[in-house]
Amino acid sequence: MHLEEAKNAHRRNVLVQWGVVIGALLALAAILVACAPIEAPAGSAMATETATAAPAEATEAVAEEVATEAPAEEVAMVGDPERGGYIFAMTTGCGCHFNRDLGAPAGGNKFEGPFGVINVPNITSDPETGIGTWSETDIVNALRLGVRPDGSQLHPIMPYMAWSALSDQDAYDLAAALKMVPPVANAVPASELASPPAAFAPANPPPAIAPAEGAERGAYIVAVANCGRCHTPRGENGAPDMSRMLAGAPLQDTIAPNLTPHESSNLSFLTEEQVASFLLTGIYDDGTPVEGPMKGIIDNGTSRLTEADALAIAQYLKSLPPVASE
Ligand code: HEC
Repeated sequence: MHLEEAKNAHRRNVLVQWGVVIGALLALAAILVACAPIEAPAGSAMATETATAAPAEATEAVAEEVATEAPAEEVAMVGDPERGGYIFAMTTGCGCHFNRDLGAPAGGNKFEGPFGVINVPNITSDPETGIGTWSETDIVNALRLGVRPDGSQLHPIMPYMAWSALSDQDAYDLAAALKMVPPVANAVPASELASPPAAFAPANPPPAIAPAEGAERGAYIVAVANCGRCHTPRGENGAPDMSRMLAGAPLQDTIAPNLTPHESSNLSFLTEEQVASFLLTGIYDDGTPVEGPMKGIIDNGTSRLTEADALAIAQYLKSLPPVASE
């Protein structure tokens, strides 16, 4: 190799190495931001989430189907932590796990209700008290099926029902990002549940690849971000009323507004650009900043999306069938 060429090659190598280091640091920063605390709403919709009871046979049938279609262990899937940082933002983060004293998602927060006491676990990579010994596949199964490596079922307060829609690649990327969270030792006692959570089988197998653009992409993000947990009204049994999906619902002392383009809703006259701009900045069209529970969703989630993804959400919301608010 010519001396000049060799020098250039060396420079390129150095640049690539710095690129990798900077990439890893950016990924870590993205994850830590995504794990920033959210106001864990006591007695919120999240706490009253009920499992749509899936009969054991159905679980097995789906498990078999999934096994023949895409056996998780056999897919040579490797997560990309840098992309995973972005997927964290898409799922609006892991604030419930955030321990303010320890400054890390080291768990310890408590949810109490008729379901018993849930102690939110440590999800840092500490091998003793966190999930440091879990493989990426173990993490993916917890995220999408709510199953721990020992086969036990997690309570549906953990939004695996929403995350069951995550594509294989996105789930593995998220898992890879989670594995980069530095270990923080914090032993969290086991939860004490009134009854064991029902087994969960997703209605549809997750897509191998997430939709790339347009309203379909928006539907995907709204599903994995679980926007419906506040914006979809619930029936008497506490389960979301999917016939009125995203049609608005009371939330603590406020209202999560109707996100369908019904004439009674702001979505009927806001343009896609205006909705996207709100999701990216948290500022309404008239200049007022968002407050309350939506603020955390924007700060930890949608403000960190690309413009294209924010527009995809807006496009999807505007394409929904209009449903009147109750
Ligand atoms: C924790 C509950 C919660 C979640 C989750 C949530 N929102 Fe909201 N959202 C609210 C509340 C409450 C408001 C009203 C805020 C206000 O009064 O300023 C709101 C307002 C909005 C608005 C403004 C509507 C209007 O009438 O101008 C949009 C758009 C919106 N949310 C979209 C979303 C999307 C998209 C997601 C998922 C990425 C989402 N929200 C997730 C609670 C939530």
